[in-house]
Amino acid sequence: MIPGDKCFIVTDAMLVKLGIVSMLTKKLDEFGKAWQIFDEVEPDPHEETILRATEACSKFQPNLIIGIGGGSSLDAAKAVWFLYEHEEDKFTIDELNPFEELHMGVKAKCVAIPTTSGTGAEVTWAVIVTRTDVDGNESKLEQPNGDVIPTYAIVDPQFTKNLPKVLTAATGFDIIAHSSEGLIAEWRTDFADACCYHALDLVKDYFVKAYQNGEDMEAREKMANAASLGGLGFGNSQVIIGHAMGHSLGAVFHLTHGKAVGVMLPYILQYCLRNPDDDTALKTIAKAAKKLGLAEWKDDLAAASDAYIQFLNSLQKSVDFPHTLEECGITREDLGKNMERLVQLTNESSSITMSPREASDALIQKIFEYAFEGKSIDF
Ligand SMILES: [Fe+2]
Repeated sequence: MIPGDKCFIVTDAMLVKLGIVSMLTKKLDEFGKAWQIFDEVEPDPHEETILRATEACSKFQPNLIIGIGGGSSLDAAKAVWFLYEHEEDKFTIDELNPFEELHMGVKAKCVAIPTTSGTGAEVTWAVIVTRTDVDGNESKLEQPNGDVIPTYAIVDPQFTKNLPKVLTAATGFDIIAHSSEGLIAEWRTDFADACCYHALDLVKDYFVKAYQNGEDMEAREKMANAASLGGLGFGNSQVIIGHAMGHSLGAVFHLTHGKAVGVMLPYILQYCLRNPDDDTALKTIAKAAKKLGLAEWKDDLAAASDAYIQFLNSLQKSVDFPHTLEECGITREDLGKNMERLVQLTNESSSITMSPREASDALIQKIFEYAFEGKSIDF
């Protein structure tokens, strides 16, 4: 039994409308717990939304904060939890950084209930918040701190049963991006490796099934588990340049997170595999391909790692997922006009620092251009 009798629920209006939040509140009623809902979380939640939710939370004074939804609602819940816990300190979202010791959980515990299978936000230290600057430009603040990993995660595939196909595809690619990037990030560990490999194995067997038939509960369960495993994987390693470029695309073109990181993944992997100074990433991805049965054990590094990229490309086709930035609806003109900002945001992203291969501004631009056209990376 999770302790706490006054629950502040952070979610979005659509989940309330679809009756998914009532699956939770019915249970809370059964157990005699008081609850209040904040349902204004939008995709890529803005700082203002977080502040509004925190104000409502402070008035209610809960001892349990429950995030239910996709990554946006879970991240919002984690941010609200942080601000509420430290309201006497008058902390802002900027104090949510890896360098502070936060002493969470005194006023309230946090429960995360994912309704998509992708972000792994229920088990990670990352919180992504959108901030609009004085010129009206948006950027995504990446605010990680180990103390805001939710106290409890409830991973139940019942909550993902009604996930639309397009979101099943996008969030599934987020799992693959976490697990692939987590395997080759500079902070990788044996424990992260184990989680990333198993997440990929589950995705290989169940992603297309979950996409084709959303009511296949075995597939839904395996994808929900894969998402949390992927979260534990990259949470104990890191994501890399794919997430940095994906966050930039999200901020500039409002692509959903899964779509942005999923479309970039084959390109950034190819870039990392071609590192002339270090073949660790190449060896790791080649080994992953062999372990997953995508390549033969006798295959050389180039053939095995290429099989991994082919696997990603064929999965994209199987779940009607874009292969190029053009297929995401971005025009060449818009890409050109926004290139400087895309490169700048990529460089500002903390995710880029753990990449196994560095990239200059010119190379980041070139990767975006190749991803627009669907060209294999040859540099
Ligand atoms: Fe992600």
